[in-house]
Amino acid sequence: MFQEFGKPIMLLSLDNLALLRLFSAMGMIKSKTLFDILFEKFNLIVDHHRETLDPDSPRDFLDCFLLQFYDDQSPELEAESRLSIRNVLLDLFIGGIETTGTSLTWSVYFLAKHPEMQRKLQEELDAVVGNKSVRLADGDKLPYTKSTISEIFRLSSVFPMAVFHATTTDSTADFEGFKLPPQTLVSSHLMMILRNEREFPNPEAFMPERHLNSSGQFQPSSHLIPFGLGKRRCLGETFARNIFFLFFANLSQKFNFEAVHLGTEPEWGFTHGTPKFSLKVTKRF
Ligand code: HEM
Repeated sequence: MFQEFGKPIMLLSLDNLALLRLFSAMGMIKSKTLFDILFEKFNLIVDHHRETLDPDSPRDFLDCFLLQFYDDQSPELEAESRLSIRNVLLDLFIGGIETTGTSLTWSVYFLAKHPEMQRKLQEELDAVVGNKSVRLADGDKLPYTKSTISEIFRLSSVFPMAVFHATTTDSTADFEGFKLPPQTLVSSHLMMILRNEREFPNPEAFMPERHLNSSGQFQPSSHLIPFGLGKRRCLGETFARNIFFLFFANLSQKFNFEAVHLGTEPEWGFTHGTPKFSLKVTKRF
């Protein structure tokens, strides 16, 4: 991707739309959208999977999809399936990469900002797991680690407003006294719920302990909804939670994160990003 945009004439054009149109009309550049580039990559991946597919031993989601929908079809159906798999891959890619990456970036920001929390976390990981790699099965024995993860998801609110949905009923829906006619756009303001003072007292403070009960066990609140609500909540939630746990717990166990510079203003983009920061990272063992 960077190679494509790195051509001098392309870079010049990206700064100036008039130049982009002119160079394109002269045939000097073929501009591609990010989607074109992604779709080309997806096609290569799909082709490779088809060539190496073993029906008795599917390796991943794509193999399962191919086995289910792709084979023994008419050319028209095959073209349709290719389009459909391309769009599914796009949904997973767009939905998964930025959100998970930004959440992990927040996690090291919080580790550096709260050294006492980092120490407590490492004490728990050292006592329960030692020097071995942390595995998903260790989760139940790591209440402080799980509470810290919940607090990271709560305060980072990387996806502050859920996707827009619409009421589909024929009649007007009644929601807590509000009348919602058919086809009303609805989106939940997740960040407001995650920072609701009634449920999370002192909501702006980073306090992993708020997710522990009086006997020190992990007890998540039903208001902790960083992945949304209802039937259309995040499709990748289980995957994202597992990946996040593995990365976060293993990074915290193996490295110390020390703040060099910590900004305070979050950077808004497609997601709610961290302030600018830099860290000193050292190996623990
Ligand atoms: C920390 C990581 C993630 C967070 C915080 C997150 C959060 C969300 C939220 C808030 C929604 C909107 C739910 C709604 O409208 O009610 C959503 C939708 C979605 N997410 Fe995630 N997500 C994460 C990771 C992932 C991953 C890893 C994948 C894919 C593997 C994924 C795929 C999707 C898809 C496909 C949707 C649309 C679901 C639908 O409309 O039915 N997400 N996500």
